[in-house]
Amino acid sequence: MDRAPFRIAVLASGTGSNLQAIIDAIADGRLPARLAGVFSDRPAAPALERARAAGVPAVAVRPRDFANRLEFDEYLFSRVDSVHPDLIVCAGYMRLVSELAVTARPGRMINIHPSLLPAFKGLHTHRQALDAGVAEHGASVHFVSPELDGGPVIAQARVPVLPGDDEATLAARVLQREHPLLLATLQLLAHRRLLLDGDRVRLDGQPLAHPLQLNDDNATLQPPDPINPPAY
Ligand code: GRF
Repeated sequence: MDRAPFRIAVLASGTGSNLQAIIDAIADGRLPARLAGVFSDRPAAPALERARAAGVPAVAVRPRDFANRLEFDEYLFSRVDSVHPDLIVCAGYMRLVSELAVTARPGRMINIHPSLLPAFKGLHTHRQALDAGVAEHGASVHFVSPELDGGPVIAQARVPVLPGDDEATLAARVLQREHPLLLATLQLLAHRRLLLDGDRVRLDGQPLAHPLQLNDDNATLQPPDPINPPAY
């Protein structure tokens, strides 16, 4: 018997280009999933418009309507839970998720972060990379933990830092790899091949010693070379 479609809820605060990549991949059959709802802390977030245009429930919850972060999260996630997601995807969601909300959903929340974690957590990651003078930068998809950008990393996509790069050119190069990275990771999750086991990521039951790497084809993920794992 076919399983029910894999239900995804997305949290987004801004532009929503990662959300749009999910919408497009579901629409053209590349991602076997259903977008159950999009939720934002910013009523004016363009991501909400993208959801509405795709006929997906779009919910804005304003933090200032709540006494504190915990009450905001409690209400927001009650709305998220009401669409019964198998997975919650933070895609350009700019708020720290409370420990209570995270621990109540073990292995069911991922985030895409524009750096090669554990390098450059937090904000302004491209500026951090340029200031550090690294030759490589990129993006990571990780399970959400109570620590900001601290959960187990599932997969990464790498880009070169080029001479003359500024934040805008580097951010654009990273963003172009974020979308296929997120989709390739969601493919594995939708096929229930990836799961979180404690603080280890398992693919097909095997623990991942290092994050999967997005190939240059921008479509497939592969385990890194165990002899020469990628430097962070
Ligand atoms: C992306 O770089 C994402 O990694 C970060 O926010 C940026 C904008 O994402 N969290 P989007 O266009 O809103 O999906």
